[in-house]
Amino acid sequence: MDINFVKSEPIQTLLDRAAGVNDSQGDVRLKAIMRDLTESIMTTIVKYDVTENEFWNAIKYFVDGIDEIGLIIPGVGLEHFMDLYMDAKDAEAGLTGGTPRTIEGPLYVAGAPLVEGNVNLTVDPDEGAQVLHMQGTVTGPDGEAVKNAIVHVWHANSKGWYSHFDPTTEQTPFNNRRRIKLGDDGHYAFHSKQPSGYSVPPGGATDRLMQAIGRHGNRPAHVHFFIEAPGYRTLTTQINFGDDPFAKDDFAFGTREGLLPVPNRQGDTAYIAFDFQMQRAAGADDEHFSVRRRAEVDTPSA
Ligand SMILES: [Fe+2]
Repeated sequence: MDINFVKSEPIQTLLDRAAGVNDSQGDVRLKAIMRDLTESIMTTIVKYDVTENEFWNAIKYFVDGIDEIGLIIPGVGLEHFMDLYMDAKDAEAGLTGGTPRTIEGPLYVAGAPLVEGNVNLTVDPDEGAQVLHMQGTVTGPDGEAVKNAIVHVWHANSKGWYSHFDPTTEQTPFNNRRRIKLGDDGHYAFHSKQPSGYSVPPGGATDRLMQAIGRHGNRPAHVHFFIEAPGYRTLTTQINFGDDPFAKDDFAFGTREGLLPVPNRQGDTAYIAFDFQMQRAAGADDEHFSVRRRAEVDTPSA
């Protein structure tokens, strides 16, 4: 079948009606996006002569795998694409420099304890894991120390599990999760048990997709950050351990140049020195987090 089938009058009429194009009610921008998105799916169906069974298998895949949508989106490159797109728009607007942004991933939990000083992130036992010490300074575009910053930090344990999402239920709710309130010097420091990399759940929707296209579902060991401060653009980023076997082969495309420090490992301790540089906020919107759905737990009182 010729791909122009999608451009035929009955299909174009169907697209208009399905997207509500001729209805006066509704969001005009949403109608246009929905129409183009549906047309691009139709075009792909015709281009590859997708069969009825393949079509319904694809629908079944998303229905069955909806719990893993937060892994499928980075796995297919869309989450990293959004970073590249925002970078390109920033460059066009003359906004360059600073620590690169990279994917948030699906495992942030709001409400972690707000703490100060040289912070211990790991409250649960994690036998045999190296101790990680990480410290540095948060500066602005002119090298000035950023005042009143809050560093949100979260990472997995040495088994590759995140608290709150750990199927072994061995971790307390905010293990390896803190919000660190910085002083006027912009210096931060924390220590914890070194995380390990992890893979997507074996046999799950993401794993099955990766295997079907000949890829793997592994991430290198990494530490996630949000950094927020009045007057600065909230930074979403992570550092990935430069000496991890998957440092250059991250299934989620979260590793980026400038975010791959190699820890200084001495015995059972690893040290990372890493400075963050924030961009100045152009408006109040820049200081906010994106609106993605996140887990939320009440901050413990103790
Ligand atoms: Fe992660």
